[in-house]
Amino acid sequence: MLARAVSHLRKLIEDLPAWSALPRRVGLMALKDFNHYVLLRSDRYFKRTRMWGYPSFVHFEPINRCNLECPLCPLTTGRMDRETAVVSFADFKTVIDQLGPFTKTLQLVGIGEPTMNKELFEMIAYAKRRYSPIDITINTNGHFLNEMNVERMISSGLDVAIIAYDGLDADTFLTYRVGGDYDKLNQGIKRLVERRRTMGRRKPVVHLQLLLHRDAASQAEPFRRRAASLGVDIVRLKTLDVHYGIGERFDGSPDSTDLIPADVEHATRYRMEAGRLRLKRSVTTCDKPYLMTNINGDGSVTICDMDFNNWHPFGNVFTTPFREIWNGPAYVKYRDTMLRDFTALSMCAECTCPMTFESETDYEVHEELVDVPAEGGDWPGDKTIPVSRRSAL
Ligand SMILES: C[S@@+](CC[C@H](N)C(=O)[O-])C[C@H]1O[C@@H](n2cnc3c(N)ncnc32)[C@H](O)[C@@H]1O
Ligand code: SF4
Ligand code: SF4
Repeated sequence: MLARAVSHLRKLIEDLPAWSALPRRVGLMALKDFNHYVLLRSDRYFKRTRMWGYPSFVHFEPINRCNLECPLCPLTTGRMDRETAVVSFADFKTVIDQLGPFTKTLQLVGIGEPTMNKELFEMIAYAKRRYSPIDITINTNGHFLNEMNVERMISSGLDVAIIAYDGLDADTFLTYRVGGDYDKLNQGIKRLVERRRTMGRRKPVVHLQLLLHRDAASQAEPFRRRAASLGVDIVRLKTLDVHYGIGERFDGSPDSTDLIPADVEHATRYRMEAGRLRLKRSVTTCDKPYLMTNINGDGSVTICDMDFNNWHPFGNVFTTPFREIWNGPAYVKYRDTMLRDFTALSMCAECTCPMTFESETDYEVHEELVDVPAEGGDWPGDKTIPVSRRSAL
């Protein structure tokens, strides 16, 4: 009881500087909402190719190197052949000081392991302090959750940590997370959850993600129980994208990968047609060019995170003001082509994760998110649409 009161008091004191910044926060919230709900939506409605609004969802890759070799990752397949890039705090600041006032969600992820950037938590703390309300998420393979990083992560104010789990046992996990350490991962997750509790914090909200690869697709139910025992907040079931690491043109041959689950119709984003894999969902539109922007670790700006190799480069935000890139000729041309002939853009026509203003995240398309219930509580997941139905959307 006393410990709880002390922890609440400590939190209140820690948050004092944030409270004193309240008027600024309210102003920023109004600006972000105006940008998101009025400017960007009107841009989309009137099919403008030169935008009035600024992206409200920003993907920013902190580093493009990794400690693992997941078989379908563009780093492993060699599909991503950009030079090594580690974003410095100074470059991050250059970007966030331009985009922060308008950004609702910042996802610090790309092709690489974000927590290998030693300045990552400093960047998050800066963005949260200066541009709150801004929601920050990272995706991580969870291999660097040591005492120091866990403490820095919690103190930074990070909102969401999506941790890749990908198997109920070491062998299943290693099918996809090649080079990984299952014990280390489990210890790191427990450490994060426990430290968050002792620090009296609710954030980061921890999402545990199971990628439904060949060996993991049948483990969704026990995975939920494992997530509850680890004390995380949300489980995420994510269907596998089998072709983003292979090539821009997906030839559909079933042997493109042997990692696709046997239950193709239900557990994947694909269907089988005459012995070939086809996308379940034929994409004809996507609002990402209006809603979001993607910044790779070298500062190059692209339409979205699918263009991890700068096939369609729009400019470099480390050297050119973002507003010049956002309404520059290359960006405008991409939006224009997209509006006139979506199929002319092979990357888009074969994409498995388009986004619309209505869904606002791509998760609706290929991920199921379920709250982990308190001990002894019911699984709301049992009442939600099974992932097979969602992924068929
Ligand atoms: C490229 S990873 C980078 C972040 C981090 N290194 C990781 O693996 O979590 C970004 C996200 O894509 C997921 N991912 C990896 N391979 C995938 C695949 N073949 N299909 C769908 N998602 C995948 C990861 O689990 C992660 O949530
Ligand atoms: S951990 Fe993430 S970045 Fe690293 S190889 Fe795997 S999917 Fe790619
Ligand atoms: S359709 Fe896919 S590749 Fe094209 S902009 Fe949307 S998310 Fe990116």
